[in-house]
Amino acid sequence: MKDLLNLHELEAVAKAAVSQIAWDYYASGADDERCLRRNVDAWDKVLLHYRVLVDVARRELSTTVLGQRIAMPIAVAPTAFHRLAHPDGELAAVRGAGDAGTLFILSTLSNTAVEEVVAAASGPVWFQLYIYKDRAATEALVRRVEAAGCHALVVTVDAPLLGRRERDVRNRFALPAGLGIENMHAAGYAHIPMATGDSGLAAYFADLLDPSLTWDAIGWLRSITTLPVIVKGLVRADDAVRAIEQGAAGVIVSNHGGRQLDASPATIDVLPRIVDALAGRGEVMIDGGLRRGADVIKALALGARAVFVGRPVLWGLAAGGREGVAGLLAMLRRELDLAMALCGCPDVASVTRDLIAP
Ligand code: FNR
Ligand code: LAC
Repeated sequence: MKDLLNLHELEAVAKAAVSQIAWDYYASGADDERCLRRNVDAWDKVLLHYRVLVDVARRELSTTVLGQRIAMPIAVAPTAFHRLAHPDGELAAVRGAGDAGTLFILSTLSNTAVEEVVAAASGPVWFQLYIYKDRAATEALVRRVEAAGCHALVVTVDAPLLGRRERDVRNRFALPAGLGIENMHAAGYAHIPMATGDSGLAAYFADLLDPSLTWDAIGWLRSITTLPVIVKGLVRADDAVRAIEQGAAGVIVSNHGGRQLDASPATIDVLPRIVDALAGRGEVMIDGGLRRGADVIKALALGARAVFVGRPVLWGLAAGGREGVAGLLAMLRRELDLAMALCGCPDVASVTRDLIAP
């Protein structure tokens, strides 16, 4: 880990460490994987007009999200099935996030129960919620999440059905024996089937998750919980405004890492419009294709409060468990710290939009 120079090298190490089926599941995007590439490439089109002769002898990277202090504006996006990457799975990942002093979002589809994950955490944990057709089971899950001590619910809205990841279809993706969706045992939804001619996960979604959700679902969620609700997976300003009107505390601009609609715009390209439309109502966060510390500055300059990384965390996990995740986050932190110095930004508050358009 310590010999690795950047995330690209980490990705190569991770690929060699996991099974082909797991790698394909983690790496793939929908259809032609154009959105997957677009997300990454779009960051290159945004340039930073650095300031000079600012005292950057000391840099302060910490910030807050929903009022919670984190050591840097980089946090862990929710991704499913961490035990495909490492036997310690989500426990290693949440510990690595804690080592980096940052926030961890746990997926509904984790291989470790939410109570165990929160118990292993030293930083804040938010819970990513998929709303099942079975609303009673969904509500029971929300109760567990609250009791476990998660600080917010992140409801994912870009997956009424699972995008078609052709590699998973070819592999007939299913979880190996012994791995399940540990939060859903009580409801009987812990098993990912081996589906005929399809990805087992796609079959699971089609069978159990609710594709009929409308904006009422946000109101329903708010009626059953006192936790703040964040809406994840939108790319439109009107949807972001709607989310806040429905009582969301914030939004995560995201297209699911290019795994859902392949024709989605890159997230960084839509961020400014969303930030402008919300004009300070609610917190705006973003994920998708961030691979360098400077990308974080671009997101912050365009109005994001924090960014999330998905696949890179899985690479860290596959390459080295807890240390791998902590190491990946340290690598991004180091890059962000240097890029802030070179931009003339001693702290997060000084990362403003004029860095993009002076
Ligand atoms: C995801 N993502 C995701 N999102 C979510 O809300 N719930 C989930 O369970 C998952 N699972 C998941 C698995 C894998 C393997 C990947 C790669 C992604 C999407 C994730 O939260 C995030 O939006 C993207 O991963 C961000 O893009 P990058 O950082 O992977 O480029
Ligand atoms: C995925 C789901 C689980 O992207 O969100 O695979």
